[in-house]
Amino acid sequence: MDRLVIQGGHKLNGHIPISGAKNSALKLMVACLLTDQPITLTNMPSLADTRFLAQLLETLGVEVYWPRGESTCHLNAAELKSTIAPYDQVRKMRASFNVLGPLIARSGHATVSLPGGCAIGARPVDLHLQALAAMGADLKVEQGYVKAAAIHGLKGAHINFSMPSVGATEHAMLTATLAEGTTVLENAAREPEIEDLAVCLNSMGADISGAGTSVIRIKGVESLKGTNHPVMPDRIEAGTYAIAAAAAGGDVTLDGCPVEALGALISKLREAGVTVDADEAAHTLRIRRNGTHLKAVNLSTQPHPGFPTDLQAQFMALMAIADGTSVIRETIFENRFMHAPELSRLGADITVRGQEAIVKGVKHLTAAPVMATDLRASVSLVIAGLAAEGETVVNRIYHLDRGFERLEEKLTACGAHIERRSGEEE
Ligand code: EPU
Repeated sequence: MDRLVIQGGHKLNGHIPISGAKNSALKLMVACLLTDQPITLTNMPSLADTRFLAQLLETLGVEVYWPRGESTCHLNAAELKSTIAPYDQVRKMRASFNVLGPLIARSGHATVSLPGGCAIGARPVDLHLQALAAMGADLKVEQGYVKAAAIHGLKGAHINFSMPSVGATEHAMLTATLAEGTTVLENAAREPEIEDLAVCLNSMGADISGAGTSVIRIKGVESLKGTNHPVMPDRIEAGTYAIAAAAAGGDVTLDGCPVEALGALISKLREAGVTVDADEAAHTLRIRRNGTHLKAVNLSTQPHPGFPTDLQAQFMALMAIADGTSVIRETIFENRFMHAPELSRLGADITVRGQEAIVKGVKHLTAAPVMATDLRASVSLVIAGLAAEGETVVNRIYHLDRGFERLEEKLTACGAHIERRSGEEE
């Protein structure tokens, strides 16, 4: 099992290029199931998760051409050979569940495993299923699988989500493109990845308006065609490096950065005393902290455009070394503080009370072996390791490989001392 060994205390200076967004790429890849023509995705992040989804698509009959090391992925679902997504492939990566609606839209039926819970919470799929049922899919849950059919085809529907869900919004949007009539999604999630998906689907001939707002209208069309679409840059990767630079100190510019999608983080960083120069037109974000102390700030995770839950762990690592006490509230997932006890191993003073973590800033973190528990939690430990004194070992970094492309290379280029080692855990 690989681990990262970090010699902390080195400032970060230089440029970091931002990769394509994992959470956009995964849904864009699924869109290939809606057409028998080829789609080409550029700026694709080569990650464990995107490679894993490519394998599931191949199981379904999609021809995938995506050589290692390349950022262009060709997907061709000219003919599907299966409409079954097995347990092992959905359990390991929840976004696989989103093949259900597109398979029904394309083939009239599908059998897809329920994903089950995960490290950050129960994460049910009830909203996904309600949306598909409203569009006329007949759904049965048997032996852990959703068995779905739409004998009379899918019909447009008015769907009012009880809460904004990124996955359910995307799933319903993908499916509705080929339903007969108009679908209206109310209380839809507004994450930028949803807009990216709508742009891609519209370039395939879909008729979607309102993506990025809480009301999305989709007029169903007869068929969709192939397209060529660039994956949007990863706002969570960008936010993570911004926080890393703030924690370690130095002067880092993020290139190809989706600045407009990072408003909530930028204001929190500025409140914390970090100098941030945001240039939307140039797609750059410059983060500077040289000698100034960090100030504790409170935050609460919220659906976009609020502070993203996917940056909560990283911001907690930053607050661990701020002056004062900060209260971090997690409102999206019920179990997303697993990094807190690991950060405490590095000397952080964190008390978790229900949905709140109370972080009392300490002067210094000190190195220790720690263990990654999920993707964003792992990278918060890397950030803490960069700021800590001494050698931190982050074990179980396969989580990191799910969502961060060339992490060591990007950080090393800015002066970090970070190295991947294989073998026994430390
Ligand atoms: N929820 C339900 N029922 C549903 C769907 C969601 O109760 O049918 C609940 C969830 O349990 C959660 C909340 O609604 O408490 C929000 O979940 P949402 O559906 O918005 O999240 P998701 O689509 O499962 C995506 C990202 C997550 C990110 C969240 C929130 C992907 C592949 N995943 O998950 O990313 O945290 O939106 O922004 O897009 C990550 O990348 O590390 C990650 C976890």
